Amino acid sequence: MALARLVDVHTHLYLPRYAQMLRSRTSVPRILTSTRDGKPDDRLLILDHEPSGGRPVGPQYWDREEKLKFMNAHGIDLSVVSSANPWLDFLPASEAKTLASQLNEDLEQYCSDSPSLSPSLKRLYGFGLLPLVPEISTDALVEATEQISKLSHLKGIIMGTRGVGKGLDDEALDPVWAALEKAGLVVFLHPHYGVDEKAWGDKNNGHVLPLALGFPFETTIATTRLILAGVLDRFPSLRLLLAHSGGTLPQLSSRLASCIDHDPVVASRLKHDARWYLGKLYFDAVAYGTEELGFVSDVIARAERFETGSSASTVTPVDRALGSRRMLFGTDHPFFPPLQSTEKWRSVVENLQAIDAVAGWGQAEKEGVRGGNALSLFNLG
Ligand code: URA
Ligand code: ZN
Repeated sequence: MALARLVDVHTHLYLPRYAQMLRSRTSVPRILTSTRDGKPDDRLLILDHEPSGGRPVGPQYWDREEKLKFMNAHGIDLSVVSSANPWLDFLPASEAKTLASQLNEDLEQYCSDSPSLSPSLKRLYGFGLLPLVPEISTDALVEATEQISKLSHLKGIIMGTRGVGKGLDDEALDPVWAALEKAGLVVFLHPHYGVDEKAWGDKNNGHVLPLALGFPFETTIATTRLILAGVLDRFPSLRLLLAHSGGTLPQLSSRLASCIDHDPVVASRLKHDARWYLGKLYFDAVAYGTEELGFVSDVIARAERFETGSSASTVTPVDRALGSRRMLFGTDHPFFPPLQSTEKWRSVVENLQAIDAVAGWGQAEKEGVRGGNALSLFNLG
């Protein structure tokens, strides 16, 4: 029997070249360098309302040894690492193009030099970057996709929600979806911008509202727009992995389907009921709660019910175990470190405990979410 592996599909880094670029900047996003008591005290400023002075940032963001130490401390066998937000979003097109190419080579090296887990498996694989910025040419995006597809340790790309400036429902992205689909690269969709900060009021709630709500709302909106634009109809083999268990899309998908049904502009546009598309997506299991994971797997499993356009009124129990096959463990490392130093990070332990306690998932489903599903999705092992 194959060994049960623990695989982290949601784990970030800033490659040294990228961190250096952030250090050289004088406006956000940037890394502010200073020292405290004679030691480096670098601060990361990437979001609106960073805590005063920025978030502490250090080798855990760029040093491969730190990533491996973290993996060892939590029993993680293999990680599929991705650059952290805001990627290349803020750069002029020519700079973004050059840097994407260099960072993809850097990440390939970072992974290919990592320790081996078995004769055919390394401990680190990666998601590359496309220069998704306004005014980039389609050719440059397709070329970057081709570059990544030739780097054997890169198994996908991470992208934000802006596309080339107009979001992910922009027809200009069709050649990019086509190239990604053809190359079999997994697209990890990850938020950065949140929603209009006016929604957060004027109380000092730190980073809680933008991270807990703004991030998942952003993913929800971007994925919904992509579905409404027919991207999943035109590119049926495109494999999209949604951060943070798809934000609030699973919870809102029946409301979405109903709103579509009642809208004369949209009603005839999609090939399927909106809920069907959720069965085509992949969801990380970074939700921190057992009930949420069970619910997401129900919604994924339920998608089948809409295969033939049958209506939601045919309520039969869904096979929660089936839905688990599209869910994959993640940590969001190095974000969400414990406030007091501990051997294991609470954010990781909570996500593992949540997987372990989902009612209706047997040992095979839990092992799938912990790692088996990732090995299949990324064709590893
Ligand atoms: N904060 C970020 O800026 N990015 C993440 O991925 C998680 C927390
Ligand atoms: Zn993340």
